[in-house]
Amino acid sequence: MNQLFYKRCLRIYALHSLQGKNWGKRYAKTVAHILRFILRIARLKFEFYFLGNIYLPYIEIVITTRCTLKCKHCSNYINTIEEKYQHSLTFEEFKQQLDNLLANVKKLHVLKIFGGEPLLDKDLDKILRYSLTNKKISNVVLTTNGTMDISDKLISIMKEHPEKMCVNLSNYTSNKELSSRLKTIDLLNKCKENSISTIFDENLLWTETSEIKYSGRTPKEIREYFLNCILTCTHVINGKLYPCPKAGIYDLRNLYLPSLQIINDWKGWLWEGTIEKIDLSAPVKKETLVRFYSNSDYLACGLCSIIEDALKKKVIPAIQE
Ligand SMILES: C[S@@+](CC[C@H](N)C(=O)[O-])C[C@H]1O[C@@H](n2cnc3c(N)ncnc32)[C@H](O)[C@@H]1O
Ligand code: SF4
Repeated sequence: MNQLFYKRCLRIYALHSLQGKNWGKRYAKTVAHILRFILRIARLKFEFYFLGNIYLPYIEIVITTRCTLKCKHCSNYINTIEEKYQHSLTFEEFKQQLDNLLANVKKLHVLKIFGGEPLLDKDLDKILRYSLTNKKISNVVLTTNGTMDISDKLISIMKEHPEKMCVNLSNYTSNKELSSRLKTIDLLNKCKENSISTIFDENLLWTETSEIKYSGRTPKEIREYFLNCILTCTHVINGKLYPCPKAGIYDLRNLYLPSLQIINDWKGWLWEGTIEKIDLSAPVKKETLVRFYSNSDYLACGLCSIIEDALKKKVIPAIQE
């Protein structure tokens, strides 16, 4: 189980760490990045096997399910959440979830603050300050769709921790139906003027997102599907940690266990220690995290279509419903 945990963390870390780099453009930077990566995985292994310390590679947390856009192909299905399930976290709720998640964790490499549109959350200033001053967290990324201004107050909080902070500006500027609503380029300039790092994909395209339906996969096929999955986004929504955003939405919409037949199929397949999600209303034990990350049998993967969707033709980002 320990080995599965370590391998899974490594895979998540590798995918997040190697994505979006300008490989080859600047030789010295590329070499430095690869060296840092090798040192980090060596450290991860040493800390885990010899000191028993847990280093988590990446967590994204939905601070609000509300959004300023309603994108037809939203990969996180935020567009499908009914009003009765909508929620924005207060600072106290955010703090409790994060503290419980990290109670027995030595370090978290990347915390991504997510939505919906996170700039809609009234407590974002406190949430950002708390994340940036938390010694267990190495990097904080805020992902925004570019429809809202980033206030001077938020900028000044970000500026206090330039080594940790990064704004991920989703580039929807190729979508002409959003021209009048997007402040993307102004936001990009504002971040640059204030020396705040940004992630900005000049040529962003999206994958189509299929409607949710049960795939009919057998437990064995579900395991294979998970092992071939390209999504490595451990995701917190509604106070629980899931293997990915889609799993969180299936649960929120009560689609998780589509029929009794499936549960029967899974009996005898699932081992006793399988953990599908972690409730963050109490401090999370080390053993629970190890069991969660060691799992390859998530029921959620029976509802997923990410692999098929990735093979379809790419689409303009953020087409509205
Ligand atoms: C669900 S959004 C939440 C944050 C914010 N509302 C936004 O749009 O940037 C998180 C990320 O998922 C990406 N995303 C959403 N749907 C996608 C799709 N179908 N294909 C590729 N990326 C997608 C967005 O571009 C964004 O970077
Ligand atoms: S992808 Fe679109 S609908 Fe989904 S959260 Fe971002 S802006 Fe909102």
